[in-house]
Amino acid sequence: MLARSSSMQQRAAMYNANALKIGLFGANCSSGRSATTVPERWTASWADCLRLARMADDAGIDFMLPIGRWKGYGGDTDFHGATLETVTWAAGLLAATERITVFGTVHAPLFHPLIAAKEFVTVDHIGSGRFGINLVVGWNEGEFEMFGVTQREHDARYDFAQEWLDVVKRAWSEPDDFDFAGQFLKLKGVRAFPKPYGDARPIIMNAGRSPIGQSFALRNCDAFFTATADTRHSIEANAKKVEEIKSAARGREIDVYTVGQVICRPTQQEADDYYRHAVIDSADWGAIEKMMALKNITRQTVAADEFQRQRQYFAGKAIGGFPFVGTPDRVAEELANISRAGMRGIAVSFVNYLNETPYFCDEVLPRLARLGVRQAH
Ligand SMILES: Cc1cc2nc3c(=O)[nH]c(=O)nc-3n(C[C@H](O)[C@H](O)[C@H](O)COP(=O)(O)O)c2cc1C
Repeated sequence: MLARSSSMQQRAAMYNANALKIGLFGANCSSGRSATTVPERWTASWADCLRLARMADDAGIDFMLPIGRWKGYGGDTDFHGATLETVTWAAGLLAATERITVFGTVHAPLFHPLIAAKEFVTVDHIGSGRFGINLVVGWNEGEFEMFGVTQREHDARYDFAQEWLDVVKRAWSEPDDFDFAGQFLKLKGVRAFPKPYGDARPIIMNAGRSPIGQSFALRNCDAFFTATADTRHSIEANAKKVEEIKSAARGREIDVYTVGQVICRPTQQEADDYYRHAVIDSADWGAIEKMMALKNITRQTVAADEFQRQRQYFAGKAIGGFPFVGTPDRVAEELANISRAGMRGIAVSFVNYLNETPYFCDEVLPRLARLGVRQAH
């Protein structure tokens, strides 16, 4: 493992000069970000995750972002039925790689903050400062019931997360014992060593969509992930979104990221055909309808044509994020537009990460370098 110096700036830059950071999203979960029945769908086995991380590390991919998920969504494939826990997953991957940043995704209400703080420090040392945290508060009731934990009312989840994160940050930085007396957490004589790797702490991201979730991110995080729904093709619309976020942060440094699914093939026809085949024609509708029901979109709550529209939207766009479907030239151009709009990066998924990452890295990454948004690798 490389010994390296580690400042917050270097961590946020993921120790490289790529203007557009590219990560892999969701590889710790079965089926990744595609609720599909195709036989080549992602299994998320440890062996495959390890091969993927080593491949991505060699090819210059910047980060891996897992999903904190505890329970599958059912359907024919039990979408996300098998998931590897993200902090231990990150520990294993960081021990096996040299350059790539790996995130752990943590539900604040399910982990004691001092256990979490120490786990994070341990993994951060394993990765010599390449560990990052995606802090989530939870939205899926069934997952919480399984733990016997009652979900707080929406906005209070972020009040709790604020205290939780304050404790974690103090455990990382306080040289002396401290007490914490909050509304939710009361801790006495807290002592935590070692501190995170180098003279810094893990980068922290959040992807809250609500106003309170967003303001939590802007106050506390280094990176904010937004699912830039309908603006993908417009640099101006994306730039406006970035501007809004940055001005709401009132001068506090925050990087804006987004997510998407990539289907890249030598011809547009091949890419379009595979997208239709894997993502629409072979969709796991049982799982998709379960996810929709969690957001209260059912045949009972919305009109029939709206229900059909939402089903198509969830299968095609909402679950995986916006689809980048096309030739290497087209995918590279669309990804470069994200950078031109001021975004710092994107976390992408593939139907089968191991099969598709090599072509993406061989064909799209060099084009992004020629377009000036990444270094040549
Ligand atoms: C990139 C990204 C990653 C996310 N990862 C997770 C996750 O791993 N686990 C989870 O429960 N929620 C995850 N979420 C959901 C968000 O944390 C958040 O709960 C959701 O966007 C709703 O926003 P709100 O909490 O402000 O209502 C993710 C969202 C995005 C866009």
